[in-house]
Amino acid sequence: MTAVCEYRAGLEGIPVTQSSISFVDGHRGILEYRGIPIDKLAESSTFLEVAYLLIWGELPNKDELEAFEHEVNHHRRLKYRIRDMMKCFPESGHPMDALQASAAALGLFYSRRALADPAYIRAAVVRLLAKIPTMVAAFQLIRKGNDPVQPRDDLGYSANFLYMLSEKEPDPLSAMIFDVCLILHAEHTINASTFSAMVTASTLTDPYAVVASAVGTLAGPLHGGANEEVIDMLEEIGSVENVEAWLDARLASKGKIMGFGHRVYKVKDPRATTLQSLAERLFEKYGEDEYYEIAVALEKAVEERLGHKGIYPNVDFYSGLVYRKLGIPTDLFTPVFAISRTAGWLAHWKEQLAENRIFRPTQIYTGTHEVDYVPIHGR
Ligand code: CMC
Repeated sequence: MTAVCEYRAGLEGIPVTQSSISFVDGHRGILEYRGIPIDKLAESSTFLEVAYLLIWGELPNKDELEAFEHEVNHHRRLKYRIRDMMKCFPESGHPMDALQASAAALGLFYSRRALADPAYIRAAVVRLLAKIPTMVAAFQLIRKGNDPVQPRDDLGYSANFLYMLSEKEPDPLSAMIFDVCLILHAEHTINASTFSAMVTASTLTDPYAVVASAVGTLAGPLHGGANEEVIDMLEEIGSVENVEAWLDARLASKGKIMGFGHRVYKVKDPRATTLQSLAERLFEKYGEDEYYEIAVALEKAVEERLGHKGIYPNVDFYSGLVYRKLGIPTDLFTPVFAISRTAGWLAHWKEQLAENRIFRPTQIYTGTHEVDYVPIHGR
């Protein structure tokens, strides 16, 4: 088979699938899930309702939503052997590595692979949406030397996660804001981790391997890992007065500004706008974050210098400030992203299975041919 089009690094602009799950207009700053604008969903829906929409294509009615919530609520617990396995992980390890290993381990326990059976698909969706948050919270407690707390069936998805993390029931505003964060991160067309999920899905392996491969891809600093690096960067800048000098030095050394720029968005990411206003709501109630003024000054300075290149805040720029105020440790920001994006990965898994063909792209060979073999003593 010969290449049918030119090589584009990073597959920029090359469609790899046909999808009806989400839509981005990077010039007008529009993001839709199944055609519904993201701000409308953030305002009116819950995360589980949005996950249902993404995966099954339509918003659930009241009975469907209640049934789905009930199923997810009742599958949150982890098998004790998974918890014991997590206790063997080094506490200094990154929580994304812990999550990737734990998600993959689910495949050991649920090894049936009935990909054509809708009941199997639903059970896998429920299990992954239910257990990924429990895994993230469990590793957080285990690495502090504590036993994980059991999920509470009387709490909603987001309130329960915050409870499992801190062992305290969150107030309704915090739970609501966290839920909106999950909605905003749930899906974003063909980004690196989603593509990874689709490639893995196309081999017809199990859904736990699909999600584990996507978690590994999300972990990198050019993708989900950027939210963590934003906080390190704001800490390094240290003060509003230092913003301009820090930025100039960073740009002079050809360094990237974390939380800025996007392959698709050439204006401010609509999710960043919503996250900024959520951060402000939290600051009104709980007091401002020391890094917020620095972040706002940095956004202005980056716009002045790089706005002409279409470099504006992306989803990762303000999310960390929200998570900090919710008491989430910095190295859990990307696992939180994974909790949410599991919905999008599963939607693409299901869509991929519906019309599957294994991914097998081609390459442009740049090596040599017919090279003489030199025996080891002659090299
Ligand atoms: N800071 C400074 N310059 C930038 C940045 C940035 N954050 N992003 C892009 N540029 C410049 C880049 O130097 C290049 O300039 P020139 O054309 O003069 O060489 C131009 O813009 C194009 O950049 P690119 O790296 O070729 O763009 P890309 O589409 O390959 O990369 C990106 C997109 C998101 C990886 C990149 O913008 C980046 O590294 N941003 C920082 C990391 C980050 O915030 N990642 C989170 C992405 S959004 C959420 C997610 O995917 O998880």
